Amino acid sequence: MSSQSRWDLSLNIQHMKVSKSFSIPHPFPYQGSKRGIASHILRHFPDDVYCLIEPFCGAGAVSIAAAAEGLAKRFLLNDLNGPLMKLWDEILQRPGQLSDRYERLWHEQHPDRKEYFFRIRDEFNSTHLPHHLLYLLARIVKGSVRYSSDGLFNQSADNRRSGMRPNAMRRNIMGVSYLLGEKTSISAVDFREVIKKTREVDLVYMDPPYQGTSFTRDHRYYNGVTYDDFVDALHVMNKHHISYIISYDGVTGEKSHGKLLPGSLSLKHLHIHAGRSSQATLLGGKEETIESLYLSPALVQRLGREVREPVRSMEEQRELVFS
Ligand SMILES: C[S@@+](CC[C@H](N)C(=O)[O-])C[C@H]1O[C@@H](n2cnc3c(N)ncnc32)[C@H](O)[C@@H]1O
Repeated sequence: MSSQSRWDLSLNIQHMKVSKSFSIPHPFPYQGSKRGIASHILRHFPDDVYCLIEPFCGAGAVSIAAAAEGLAKRFLLNDLNGPLMKLWDEILQRPGQLSDRYERLWHEQHPDRKEYFFRIRDEFNSTHLPHHLLYLLARIVKGSVRYSSDGLFNQSADNRRSGMRPNAMRRNIMGVSYLLGEKTSISAVDFREVIKKTREVDLVYMDPPYQGTSFTRDHRYYNGVTYDDFVDALHVMNKHHISYIISYDGVTGEKSHGKLLPGSLSLKHLHIHAGRSSQATLLGGKEETIESLYLSPALVQRLGREVREPVRSMEEQRELVFS
């Protein structure tokens, strides 16, 4: 992006902050995004983070929120999904060009959005072009990415909607590029490769695929992580005194999703009341989703104070999450 347009954007964002209408931008809808609870997660950040590392970044909600709050000097975004990281590279380095291309696709899709979606999906599966992926992400139901067993994007469109309007998409993309563009490195490798490079001055935020979706017939994510491999990697991180935060499988009402992380890791286990799950809302239920958050021993020590559960009622927390 040219320095002039970054400057214009900076003035815009300053203006939005002053006029209190500033909302944190997000680059694309993504199922499992931590956008709604990012502010709860940021509360456990130390104030001396050099690099914030997200090895399972998806839509990178926590990094974007941390950048908006000035909580790290540098960022490293990684996800095993290569085409997704190519899209991130476009967002950060060529946001104007990406927004123009999205705008063209968005207008071209009328009058037959259904047929157009399948055409772009086929093109994406053979070329992996970032603006095609952005269009697909904007059109699928609740950003719920699905791949076939041979790695082809096979989710269908929500044909009741056209996808985010080009102006809103441009604002989001320019905003994310402004916040992260000049201080972020990108990679598309297995999470273990990334955490090898972590130092004690950094902070790692990890949101791995949900247990039960990895290695099952539900190909929600590109690959997956087994429980045992994940726990082994955490033991290595503990040995190197790495500060990390993990979001790991929550509880909805009475139903718990997946196993807890083992006591041998000495993690501080907290709970975030994330409000009603979208599934429960769809079914007219009232079940609360409670998200697990784990802090590493090195982080607890670094914070130098007792880490307590937030002393807020469910109602107050729900207000915070959805306000
Ligand atoms: C729950 S999503 C992360 C959502 C993210 N926190 C957000 O705010 O959008 C998990 C991500 O892990 C990625 N993933 C799966 N296996 C991986 C692996 N072995 N190494 C790195 N990333 C992986 C998936 O492609 C997926 O994007």
